[in-house]
Amino acid sequence: MGFLFLFPTAFLSCALLVSGITYSEFVHPNFTASNLQYAENSGSFLTSRNGTFKAAIFNPGAQQTNFYLCVIHVASNTIIWSANRDDPISNSGEMYLTSEGITISDESGNPKWSTPAIPSPAYAMMLSEMGNLVLLDRSNNSLWESFQHPTDTIVMGQLFPVKASFSSAVSPTDLSTGDYSLTLSSSDLHLQWRGLLYWKLSMDTKAYINSNSMVEYMAINRTGLYLLGGNGTVIIQVALSLSDFWIATLESSGRFIVKSFSADDWMDDFVGPSDSCRIPFLCGTVGSCRDGSASNTCSCPSNFHSVSPNRTGCVPTDGSYSLYPTCNSTDHSTHLIPSVLSYLTIGYGYDYFGSQFSGPVRSRVNLTACQDLCSGDCSCLGFLYENSSGDCYWIKSYLGSLISDIQRGEDLLGYIKVLVGSSPAKPGVKNDQSTKFPLSALVLLPSSAFILLIVLGSLWWRRQRISRDRDMKAGQYNLPSPEEPDAFQIPGLPKRFDYKELEVATDHFRTLIGSGGFGAVYKGTLPDKAVVAVKKITNLGIQGKKEFCTEIAIIGNIHHINLVKLRGFCARGSTRLLVFEYMNRGSLDRILFGNGPVLEWQERFNIALGTARGLAYLHSGCEQKIIHCDIKPENILLHDHFQVKISDFGLSKLLGPEQSSLFTTMRGTRGYLAPEWLTNSAISEKTDVYSFGMVLLEIVSGRKNCLLRTQSHSLEEDSSGTRSSSSSGSGLLYFPLFALEMHEQGKYAELADPRLENRVKRQDVEKLVRVALCCVHEEPSLRPNMAIVVGMLEGKIPLGHPRMESLNFLRFYGRRFTEASVIAEQENEENVLLYSQANACPTSTTSSSRKSMSYISSQQVSGPR
Ligand SMILES: *[C@@H]1O[C@H](CO)[C@@H](O)[C@H](O)[C@H]1NC(C)=O
Ligand SMILES: *[C@@H]1O[C@H](CO)[C@@H](O)[C@H](O)[C@H]1NC(C)=O
Ligand SMILES: *[C@@H]1O[C@H](CO)[C@@H](O)[C@H](O)[C@H]1NC(C)=O
Ligand SMILES: *[C@@H]1O[C@H](CO)[C@@H](O)[C@H](O)[C@H]1NC(C)=O
Ligand SMILES: *[C@@H]1O[C@H](CO)[C@@H](O)[C@H](O)[C@H]1NC(C)=O
Ligand SMILES: *[C@@H]1O[C@H](CO)[C@@H](O)[C@H](O)[C@H]1NC(C)=O
Ligand SMILES: *[C@@H]1O[C@H](CO)[C@@H](O)[C@H](O)[C@H]1NC(C)=O
Ligand SMILES: *[C@@H]1O[C@H](CO)[C@@H](O)[C@H](O)[C@H]1NC(C)=O
Ligand SMILES: *[C@@H]1O[C@H](CO)[C@@H](O)[C@H](O)[C@H]1NC(C)=O
Repeated sequence: MGFLFLFPTAFLSCALLVSGITYSEFVHPNFTASNLQYAENSGSFLTSRNGTFKAAIFNPGAQQTNFYLCVIHVASNTIIWSANRDDPISNSGEMYLTSEGITISDESGNPKWSTPAIPSPAYAMMLSEMGNLVLLDRSNNSLWESFQHPTDTIVMGQLFPVKASFSSAVSPTDLSTGDYSLTLSSSDLHLQWRGLLYWKLSMDTKAYINSNSMVEYMAINRTGLYLLGGNGTVIIQVALSLSDFWIATLESSGRFIVKSFSADDWMDDFVGPSDSCRIPFLCGTVGSCRDGSASNTCSCPSNFHSVSPNRTGCVPTDGSYSLYPTCNSTDHSTHLIPSVLSYLTIGYGYDYFGSQFSGPVRSRVNLTACQDLCSGDCSCLGFLYENSSGDCYWIKSYLGSLISDIQRGEDLLGYIKVLVGSSPAKPGVKNDQSTKFPLSALVLLPSSAFILLIVLGSLWWRRQRISRDRDMKAGQYNLPSPEEPDAFQIPGLPKRFDYKELEVATDHFRTLIGSGGFGAVYKGTLPDKAVVAVKKITNLGIQGKKEFCTEIAIIGNIHHINLVKLRGFCARGSTRLLVFEYMNRGSLDRILFGNGPVLEWQERFNIALGTARGLAYLHSGCEQKIIHCDIKPENILLHDHFQVKISDFGLSKLLGPEQSSLFTTMRGTRGYLAPEWLTNSAISEKTDVYSFGMVLLEIVSGRKNCLLRTQSHSLEEDSSGTRSSSSSGSGLLYFPLFALEMHEQGKYAELADPRLENRVKRQDVEKLVRVALCCVHEEPSLRPNMAIVVGMLEGKIPLGHPRMESLNFLRFYGRRFTEASVIAEQENEENVLLYSQANACPTSTTSSSRKSMSYISSQQVSGPR
């Protein structure tokens, strides 16, 4: 074991006395290796103990010029690390191990790469079974590790620290540093192309955001990819199917991919961006990428053609133009000569990766103004102009690929900045027809008139977009008007607002009245003096305008006195705004748990009844059954005279179709979450009934169902002192369990909010408590439907009898809550408490000032209030 001769070929080579011997696990100083020397083993000189990994002087793709010191996963022959990626050597170049570290030299002995200075002499170089190449001192202390200097891949067991980054290779055979990079920030994982952001882990629908704490490192294990905080708390996770070997790699194409190797093949489990057309340079300069989800294809937009079969990207078809060169910030002057500047239109139907991350440079401008803005800045290489809103987006710094997307690009007119005539000042852009300049007479016309001609000309070129007549008008240079007709013929679509209108209405989004996972909610006033709540949705899954509008049409058509009315929406670029009627008394949680005047019993009853009626309507009153999925006091809004309205119904559908089962499981707010969320059973309207039951208990008691009595701000001592098993010595109360116990003993009066003193009758409390307990039955089929709940509350249907066999789970939840709380108290670490209790109560023990992880996470997946 652990000795020499691992491969039959090694025997052969020994017999020939040519090739070196492949070592196992360790090599010691004064060791040298070259590809030539180990040619029989493809340059491999060292294997890990069980042979999972090997270290080699290797030439990927069997090309004969670039050799690298690599760590290779043997079964898949995949390079997971390389030392001298930017300084390859030939097959006779050598790696030396000395007591000072590792040095790689070319065939003449010139050093190309070496490990940094190490604190004490190296005694051995070890290749671990995880694939880590380590320099050890005599006492086996690590002096240097390849895991701390990842090239473009991390493997299971490797920790990737915050602020670390790595870059893709140029190609599978040229490992030198490419243009794509991956960086771990303290909140997210980012992908960038030449420093421009094009993907974030948190916006992927498969990423489950668990906490807003600071990320400290990234790691992969058998079940998932994790961004972890201090103490190993999970900040963001991506669930993976179970496998023994995972790697995460940034491919030379710019895709971040997590894949497993089993049964002799790689399986991709997670890919970012999921739409490969969102990779900035997939189709080269100005190349248009179509259908990124399946097999993307590249083509050139109108007025452009491809350079040559060997190169990706497109150049102007008319050889008298050339692409505007990349701006060099130290050298602005030559780029600002207006007479040689012009624009070629690419027409409608294109989006650009950057528009998702940086908003418009300017809004509500006309096309000329947008163009002039671009002309005035050498880093602007083109622009997209949205006719309906007057938004001007730049293609900035580098000219990447376009995304052919009829839906998103539907309203975006694109232009690429070009130079007229051949320009010696721009290396790298080949101009095969530079001697022809048929349009040179037009060159000196004002650029806008010139564009007009180009646009008119391009009308003849455009074949695919003929169906939409109004495209044509764009060429005529009309000013955008605020009354742009609705883009889609979706019946029942509510009013479409102009972005600017809402900006004015909200006074530039000045008054924040709430926030959640979708985004923030602002107060605003429309020109007709109507006060509205404007919800700015930022965390939408990848979803086109059309699907969005379809959902909006459904929500907009639901009218019920107990449901918040959607007044309109605005879809601009990737921003989505929803305009709701404003409810001036805020949400139930503030009124119920706040420090204001006590809610009288009749008001509580009316709130309960109104909420029940609203839900009953959602479940069975409208054409399409709508399950709310997130019933909680924060989503029950109040207006004058205790008019009650439920908000955020239908919004769960806007999260996009690609929800993983984990994602689905975690939806909703956990304190109000029915057990079936956690067991992965079917979600039905009965899931809302459970949440309603939990809310009902809070309405009765006037406090959160989960309380730490040590938290002074939210708890008044109960007068009775009859806390039994539901509370422990440490002052904990899991109210649903307490309610069950009091129900068993018939002591309903104990349950009412003590602030009501004696202003409530026992049988009135009994009514709400019994309804609530029936609603929280563990078995969904034993829960009444909302119509029956309404009937029971109105007194038209006899009260149900809570079934003990389906309520015993509350005892379990109560115990979990108590235990977790005690641990938390000992550790004085609130988050542990809030996170560890599964479903019992994690959410709403917090006041709004104390954000718990689960609060954040549930908000993030379930949407804002
Ligand atoms: C390695 O070589 C150097 C110089 O040739 C020598 O001083 C040293 O003792 C050698 N080390 C080992 C471990 O053989
Ligand atoms: C190496 O293989 C042996 C036998 O299969 C196994 O017991 C051992 O755990 C493996 N070691 C490592 C580090 O994987
Ligand atoms: C270092 O580790 C190797 C293998 O794990 C072991 O054989 C050796 O005894 C260790 N040396 C020391 C000084 O601990
Ligand atoms: C993977 O890591 C996460 C986060 O540290 C942990 O919760 C999970 O149990 C681990 N899974 C396995 C199979 O080790
Ligand atoms: C980790 O836990 C310890 C106690 O267990 C605590 O003192 C420390 O603040 C925690 N660190 C972080 C970053 O949460
Ligand atoms: C494409 O590449 C091949 C081989 O590298 C070369 O022979 C050919 O001339 C190239 N074609 C063009 C149009 O550049
Ligand atoms: C930018 O200009 C400076 C000085 O003119 C030059 O050294 C540098 O290489 C240029 N960079 C690029 C990307 O062209
Ligand atoms: C575009 O707007 C600018 C002011 O922003 C105005 O001066 C100019 O006349 C407008 N152009 C057209 C064609 O209306
Ligand atoms: C652009 O805006 C103008 C003025 O509002 C309008 O007439 C035209 O139809 C719009 N074009 C498109 C393609 O939406």
